[in-house]
Amino acid sequence: MKEGVRRFYEQDTEIKKEFYTRDHMKPVVYNTNFDFYSAPTTNWRDTFMCSMAPNPPKSKQLPAPCRDILEEYSKQVMELGISLFDLLSEALGLNPKYLNGIDCAEGLQVLCHYYPACPQPELTLGTTQHADNSFPTVLLQDHIGGLQVVHQDKWTDIPPVPGALVVNVGDLLQLITNDRFKSVEHRVLASLTGLRVSVASFFCTGFQPTGKVYEPIKKLLSKDTPPKYKETTVRDYSVYLQEKGLDGTFVLLHFRI
Ligand code: OGA
Ligand code: NI
Repeated sequence: MKEGVRRFYEQDTEIKKEFYTRDHMKPVVYNTNFDFYSAPTTNWRDTFMCSMAPNPPKSKQLPAPCRDILEEYSKQVMELGISLFDLLSEALGLNPKYLNGIDCAEGLQVLCHYYPACPQPELTLGTTQHADNSFPTVLLQDHIGGLQVVHQDKWTDIPPVPGALVVNVGDLLQLITNDRFKSVEHRVLASLTGLRVSVASFFCTGFQPTGKVYEPIKKLLSKDTPPKYKETTVRDYSVYLQEKGLDGTFVLLHFRI
């Protein structure tokens, strides 16, 4: 998968231009910084994004250098996600099929990032601090490093481990579990030495108008534990994030009661 992403970015600009767009309803969206026109700062990163579920693009719409691997990888991440949702449901004391039953695994958006080596890494970031607008995100990173999470109020390195995936709890999971699972604040440092490739698979339907409304799960609430968040659709959540851009603030607070 990492090689496939690299092959995409190593193509001629003329070929890549075919995928360049800021229309997020396109099957493949390739650009620099999704929030280029709204964020206060620009990150040292390009991304192409494919919505692989629930309505995957036709094979021939995917970039040729990584078409087959994208389809295979997405299928396997989806299987992993379904198992994760079973386990997370159990951990919440719910029926193991609960989170799959409310369609947490309906959407899978695969973001393929390319962080070029940066001549002045102290002046910018690869990705500004944020929490993901997903239920969880399954992240594959290469050997370069630079990913950090906030742990006990400090930025902490998440060093790459060969063959390992990182699973981030996202804001949508925090919202529906009423803070039982906390989304993790994370960022990526820019690197002087090497270009970095990563693949972030978001369990999230993004801008697709599913109309499904999410709110804190009733079974997790009681008189002493009232709902902390308003209901929302994944689309409304995503639109709010897109308009705001990564500005280092907490998106979830906007939905707090
Ligand atoms: C993201 C993200 C981290 C990385 O896509 O939201 O945090 O390592 N990516 O690229
Ligand atoms: Ni992220």
